[in-house]
Formats: sequence, C-alpha cells, structure tokens
Amino acid sequence: MTVTEKTSLVTGASGFIASHVVQQLLEKGERVHATVRSTKNKKKIQHLLDMQDRWPGNLNLYEADLLVAGSFEAPMQDCSVIYHIASPFFIENKIRDGQKEVVEPALKGTQYVLDAVQKCETAKLVILTSSVAAVFGDNADVLEMKNKTFSADYFNTTSSVTHNSYPYSKVVAEKAAWKLYEEQLNPPRWKLVTINLGLVLGPSLSRTSESGSLSLLDQLLSGQPFLEVPDLWFGISEFSRSLYPGRQQNTRLCGASSHPQIDYPIFSNPEKQASECFDTHVRAIPWL
Ligand SMILES: NC(=O)c1ccc[n+]([C@@H]2O[C@H](COP(=O)([O-])OP(=O)(O)OC[C@H]3O[C@@H](n4cnc5c(N)ncnc54)[C@H](OP(=O)(O)O)[C@@H]3O)[C@@H](O)[C@H]2O)c1
Repeated sequence: MTVTEKTSLVTGASGFIASHVVQQLLEKGERVHATVRSTKNKKKIQHLLDMQDRWPGNLNLYEADLLVAGSFEAPMQDCSVIYHIASPFFIENKIRDGQKEVVEPALKGTQYVLDAVQKCETAKLVILTSSVAAVFGDNADVLEMKNKTFSADYFNTTSSVTHNSYPYSKVVAEKAAWKLYEEQLNPPRWKLVTINLGLVLGPSLSRTSESGSLSLLDQLLSGQPFLEVPDLWFGISEFSRSLYPGRQQNTRLCGASSHPQIDYPIFSNPEKQASECFDTHVRAIPWL
C-alpha cells in the first residue's frame, strides 16, 4: 500500500457504524487501515474480508484493543484521517460493572488512540464518534440548558460510573479528546471533530455481532424497547457521508433531530459544510 493523503484509519471496524464508514471510504477510492480486536474471528469480520476482495489492496486489517497501550500505533502509520469509532456500546440494563465494561475502555481507548496520533506525523484530523449521551444524561441536564434545548455547548453532568455508565463513558472519553487536542503545541498539527450522534439506524453489514446497536434494533423490531421511542427519525446509517465536508473544522457536531429534512440538509446536500448544517442544529429532544 503506498503512502497517500487518502489513507484513513477506522477503529472498531467490526462494529455497526464503523463497517459503513470503511465501506464508504473504499467506495470513494480511499485506502483504509481498519482495526478489529481479532483477525482470527473470521465470522465476525467476514464483511471486511469481502471488502478486501472487492477493493483489492485498499483495505488493511490490524488487531488493536482499546485497553492495550500502543496498539493503534502500527495501524495508524501513514494515515492522515483517524475515525475513532471503537467504544463499548451496551444497553444500560446489560451492564454489570460500568467502570470495567464501558468507562475504562472508552477513556483509555481514546487516550491510546490520541497518544498514537501525537506520535504520527501524517495524522491531520481525528473524527471521534461521541454521542448525544455526552450532551445529556437525565432530563435534569436539559432543564438547565438555554430554552431547555440541547446543543453542542453542553456536557452531560448527571451521569456517573454508577448511574448511566454508558453516557458517562461518552462524557469522559470526549472530554479527554478535547483536552489532548488543546494540549497540542500552537499551531496544532491535528484537528478534532466530534460527532455527537443520536440514534443511528440502518442495515448491518456484519452477520455476527454483539453490537449494542443491533440489540437495540432487535428490541425495536420485536416491540420490546428498553428505551422509549418517541420518533424514529433521527440518526441514519448514512451519517458517515456527513463527515467528509466537516473535515476542515475543529467542531462538535450534534447529530440528532426531529425533522430530518430540515435539520439534516447535509444528507440532501452533501456538498454543504457540515459546520453550516450542524452548528445551528439545536433542537429540543422530542420526548421531553
Ligand atoms: N449506534 C448508535 O445509535 C450510536 C449513537 C451515538 C453514538 N454511537 C457511538 O458510535 C460508536 C460506534 O457504535 P456502534 O453502534 O457501531 O456500536 P458497535 O456495533 O457495538 O461497535 C462498537 C465497536 O467497538 C469495538 N470495541 C469495543 N470494545 C473494544 C475494545 N476493548 N477494544 C477494541 N475494540 C472494542 C467493538 O469491537 P468488537 O466487535 O470486537 O466487540 C466494535 O467494533 C460508539 O462510539 C458509540 O458510542 C452510536
């Protein structure tokens, strides 16, 4: 694989969202380094092996674990854009030990990925999938916000390791990323974009997965949602298309809305700057 400006690293490529990101980058003709926990579990990564056949030479697979320092350094070599997507995503009632199962891997993983970015001279942009859960946990968070409307100006203050540990993991991981970004020498070598996603729905590219997203989809389709489902029209799997125009910004993008045609102009007009679309995307959460 030759060194090019168009080589991207995608972490957590076995996962629901990252699989789509890998595929869309390959469709755009980019080269991709993708990390998975194990390349031996062929069943779990079959969709990636199929992509290697479809785009020969353009997809390299690496093993990396969020809990292992240094494991992202080799995969990141020669990459200019880093999509850090790997993070434990579990439905809250399935979490037994919040610190061990979600907070630690989310936080350490973000730190290890960004430690690798600090060492990788070719890295120019980090795109981190955060969540609306990093903006609000309980309704109490939103009651404190201007016009009781959530926006990228806020962080969730109600979640903790013992109360809503998944949202808490997204808070600490995102804050750690912004801290490491700010600690760079001036001018900073790499930029940071965090995407604070709402619910992301769509087809799974993987046939085998323990993904929290897929359990949630199962619950929705079987009519047993653990969470309330007011309106199913925020978040779509094509969200990754919105990442391309946003690459030049250091910004926090809130990706949740109650009216996709109005609030997601980026999807109907992908050439539009993501920042133009999302900076003004301040919408009340429909079920509040
Ligand atoms: N889906 C949504 O609606 C939604 C909404 C907001 C934000 N997000 C965020 O988007 C990202 C991706 O979510 P998703 O829905 O695609 O979830 P997913 O399918 O569960 O993917 C999570 C990925 O993280 C990897 N991972 C977990 N622990 C790891 C570890 N210790 N070391 C290395 N990799 C590890 C998983 O690998 P394995 O396959 O090996 O477990 C998997 O590839 C997450 O950061 C999530 O917080 C998702």
